[in-house]
Amino acid sequence: MGDTVFVIRRVTKDWAEKVFEFHKTHITPYLWPRDLKFFRELAQRESLFEIVAQIPSGEEMAGVCYITEDPSESEDRIEFGGVFVVPEFRGLGLATVLGKVAIASLFIWDPPSSEIPVIAHVHEKNQEPRRVLEQLGFIKTGQEIPPEEIVPPGLERNEEGKVVGDLFVFRRAQLSEFADWLENFQGLAEGKKGKVSLKINVPFFTDYKSEAIEALRDLSRVR
Ligand SMILES: CC(C)(COP(=O)(O)OP(=O)(O)OC[C@H]1O[C@@H](n2cnc3c(N)ncnc32)[C@H](O)[C@@H]1OP(=O)(O)O)[C@@H](O)C(=O)NCCC(=O)NCCS
Repeated sequence: MGDTVFVIRRVTKDWAEKVFEFHKTHITPYLWPRDLKFFRELAQRESLFEIVAQIPSGEEMAGVCYITEDPSESEDRIEFGGVFVVPEFRGLGLATVLGKVAIASLFIWDPPSSEIPVIAHVHEKNQEPRRVLEQLGFIKTGQEIPPEEIVPPGLERNEEGKVVGDLFVFRRAQLSEFADWLENFQGLAEGKKGKVSLKINVPFFTDYKSEAIEALRDLSRVR
């Protein structure tokens, strides 16, 4: 991992197809399959984020996530989802930083009103993303059975034939911790398996860092 530098970027529209191919290749039993249209729309709305690994011979995709209107609900909610990091780069803290960047970007550029929750769904059997969500400031609030017409056929079902998801809600107070993290960021991600070099190439970080820190602190106080 010595020469590898990871880069977090917002995905542009002309790059969305590449991210969709990555999603398709790495789909797991717990990741909801999405189509290309969904990925194109996400990119258009600046709601799609990726991590790439820059190695001496080029660049490869390492992870992805999105933050957008919750497609499973008529009520207004914003969903943080699609979080995925390739197995060889897991345990380096990358999913956690990717999530921070996606959530911070949303709040800095287009803060949802305080009545609109930012949520995440995790299949009841999936243990992998729970710590990531906790570290991002989500708490588990209950369970939900999503409408049948949007549930992918491959997802595991309970005895009654329903897909059950645990519902997590983001605590906005956590944005002050994001501000502290942003202020102290030293170009590294760190997880159980070690530290790696990381660049964050999103506008709030590269061009408006001090304004972003202030905005996150202010937003963390909104109830
Ligand atoms: C979930 C996932 C994105 C985590 O990626 P990652 O970059 O390795 O995560 P991080 O290094 O930032 O780890 C953050 C925390 O999650 C924990 N974690 C990571 N992988 C885990 C796993 N497989 N099982 C349980 N906990 C795990 C880490 O230990 C860490 O907690 P800690 O600080 O207390 O040790 C990755 O395992 C993945 O892509 N899984 C498959 C896709 C998936 O299920 N996505 C969720 C759909 S809702």
